[in-house]
Amino acid sequence: MLTHKGLVTSVAQQVDGENPNLYFHKEDVIFCVLPLFHIYSLNSVLLCGLRVGAAILIMQKFEIISLAELVQKHKVTIAPFVPPIVLAIAKSPDVGKYDFSSIRTVLSGAAPMGKELEDAVRAKIPNAKLGQGYGMTEAGPVLAMCLAFAKEPFEIKSGACGTVVRNAEMKIVDPDTGISLPRNQSGEICIRGAQIMKGYLNDPEATERTIDKEGWLHTGDIGYIDDDDELFIVDRLKELIKYKGFQVAPAELEAMLIAHPNISDSAVVPMKDEAAGEVPVAFIVRSNGSKITEEEIKQYISKQVVFYKRINRVFFSDSIPKAPSGKILRKDLRAKLAAGVPN
Ligand SMILES: *[C@@H]1O[C@H](CO)[C@@H](O)[C@H](O)[C@H]1NC(C)=O
Ligand SMILES: *[C@@H]1O[C@H](CO)[C@@H](O)[C@H](O)[C@H]1NC(C)=O
Ligand SMILES: *[C@@H]1O[C@H](CO)[C@@H](O)[C@H](O)[C@H]1NC(C)=O
Repeated sequence: MLTHKGLVTSVAQQVDGENPNLYFHKEDVIFCVLPLFHIYSLNSVLLCGLRVGAAILIMQKFEIISLAELVQKHKVTIAPFVPPIVLAIAKSPDVGKYDFSSIRTVLSGAAPMGKELEDAVRAKIPNAKLGQGYGMTEAGPVLAMCLAFAKEPFEIKSGACGTVVRNAEMKIVDPDTGISLPRNQSGEICIRGAQIMKGYLNDPEATERTIDKEGWLHTGDIGYIDDDDELFIVDRLKELIKYKGFQVAPAELEAMLIAHPNISDSAVVPMKDEAAGEVPVAFIVRSNGSKITEEEIKQYISKQVVFYKRINRVFFSDSIPKAPSGKILRKDLRAKLAAGVPN
């Protein structure tokens, strides 16, 4: 249940005021390719865009070349994307033929984007400020927004997803004990403010599990805040792979995998293992023409991670199943594994 007050608060937290976190103005042309039934597009693109009187350019279905043509023709200034679109831009050999110099801001949200992918797209659209926002429907939706998008932008770190929105409180807690954690320590991200949901419709128990008595919304996301107040997401609490006592974040391994030139997309999921409980395995889409092998992929990861994060098996695939918002449908891949190891 998102209230009128909550949505208005969220829009104000993003675009209102002297130096808004998300600086949109009425001469902007905001690209809208993400589905409007998704809260990211509805709130940060449509509502925030209308609030400032910007033009909103709607593309019905994502296709990389048509997107490039539209950006060039309409001189798009704000490009709200999700990681699969950013990935397509970073990997497309044709994008370089189009003029993207009008783009001032590239936002990415809805799913985590690793440092490697951020750096790759920064090289393709050098004039734009690139950064991430962090939201979830229950939080109204925006929790943090990258300060590179502010009217007077700040330098930001690759991989960060911004600082907490104004007029809201954030804390990181130990997911088992609920105790607040200091800077640099990963735990569950919690937020409090007028923008968060009233609760889940007709589900008081789920509401009670999510919003505690003090009004903190427990996101189920694991992250940490550094000395500069920047928030880094590690992964969804329930997505973490549990190798013996160790936790492995799939998003971290996926970011390394897609940084490889011979890999065009990837997804990491847990596979049951007698000795370890769970081990990370990867579904890989090879780049066009690439013949990269399972062994090469395993070695490439082993060189960069501690032992328990090593990829145990590799399954080659034509595509990675994703929701329209860009989130990897890991449950589909887990179901595939449960039905028998694919060839
Ligand atoms: C947090 O981590 C950074 C980078 O490793 C380090 O420079 C800083 O001192 C740490 N801060 C605290 C409070 O531990
Ligand atoms: C990618 O594949 C090509 C052709 O198979 C190979 O020559 C190249 O070394 C590979 N790149 C990396 C970084 O492994
Ligand atoms: C892959 O590469 C081949 C040969 O270089 C080319 O004919 C084909 O169109 C490419 N396919 C895609 C999907 O880019």
